[in-house]
Amino acid sequence: MSEIKKVAVVGGGTMGNGIAHVFAMSGFDVDLVETKQELLDRAVSTIEKNLDRMVSREKISEEQKSRTLENIRPSLDLTESVKEADLVVEAVPENFPLKKQVFIEIDKTAPERTIIATNTSSISITKLAAVTDRAEKFIGMHFFNPVPVMKLVEIVNGLETDPDVTEKIEKTSKKLGKVPIPVNDSPGFVSNRVLMPMINEAIYCVYEGIGTPEHIDQVMKLGMAHPMGPLRLADFIGLDVCLNILNVLYEGFKDPKYRACPLLVKMVDAGKLGDKTGIGFYLHD
Ligand SMILES: NC(=O)c1ccc[n+]([C@@H]2O[C@H](COP(=O)([O-])OP(=O)(O)OC[C@H]3O[C@@H](n4cnc5c(N)ncnc54)[C@H](O)[C@@H]3O)[C@@H](O)[C@H]2O)c1
Repeated sequence: MSEIKKVAVVGGGTMGNGIAHVFAMSGFDVDLVETKQELLDRAVSTIEKNLDRMVSREKISEEQKSRTLENIRPSLDLTESVKEADLVVEAVPENFPLKKQVFIEIDKTAPERTIIATNTSSISITKLAAVTDRAEKFIGMHFFNPVPVMKLVEIVNGLETDPDVTEKIEKTSKKLGKVPIPVNDSPGFVSNRVLMPMINEAIYCVYEGIGTPEHIDQVMKLGMAHPMGPLRLADFIGLDVCLNILNVLYEGFKDPKYRACPLLVKMVDAGKLGDKTGIGFYLHD
């Protein structure tokens, strides 16, 4: 299998701009694809800001910053950008019909050798792969937010993913300075299968009046050495995202242990989604 040199990142939001940033910083040629010029501009300026922060903290030099930016080609044309890509990483919103449409387009245009990776956090890799005619070259590459900082990439194999593709994506992740952990496709993969029930249980503790959010988070930080308590983390992830993933686990396993706490449902209904709305279990600036 040929080496991965050219990468197209589809979607330049929270995850996509971080993914483009780490690939470009590691010397890959990156096309960053968005739907509108202002979204593309915002994605590039976020990357610039994050690179500036790395320069000021002396993690990279000014020269590395310029080289990284030179490696990124902003694009509004998906077809053109995937035409010569060795790897396409999809990071559009977590919505199956939208992802399906994007994959059909990529599959139609990308060369036969191109590997397609998705950053989905909860949709079945096998189901997404089935939308294309290359299920053996389809894989989950689950990065974590903020991408330039977090070391983990959960590599998720669909039912038909070719082991050579897995190996290649693991090698590529290492080139990004990440630690790839291979897992098999299953609702929530490993990360959210373990994390979301813990967050849900912490919310039950608030719901049942067992402790305040601050106290529950302190128990987990001071007693379990978690760097961030589960309720603070839930606010950071977004309470709507947490509810959505819990529903995926509940529907996927048909097991009541994944039933979302009624307080979580109510907070999402009320629009208290955490950091992004300024209020969740905590007040945010
Ligand atoms: N945010 C997280 O913490 C996190 C963590 C891990 C995985 N994920 C997953 O990553 C994916 C992206 O999440 P996000 O938080 O970056 O979402 P986001 O909404 O911040 O960004 C998605 C971007 O995709 C763009 N987009 C939509 N349709 C497009 C198209 N057809 N072509 C090109 N761009 C298009 C949107 O304009 C938007 O900027 C989702 O599948 C999500 O589940 C998110």
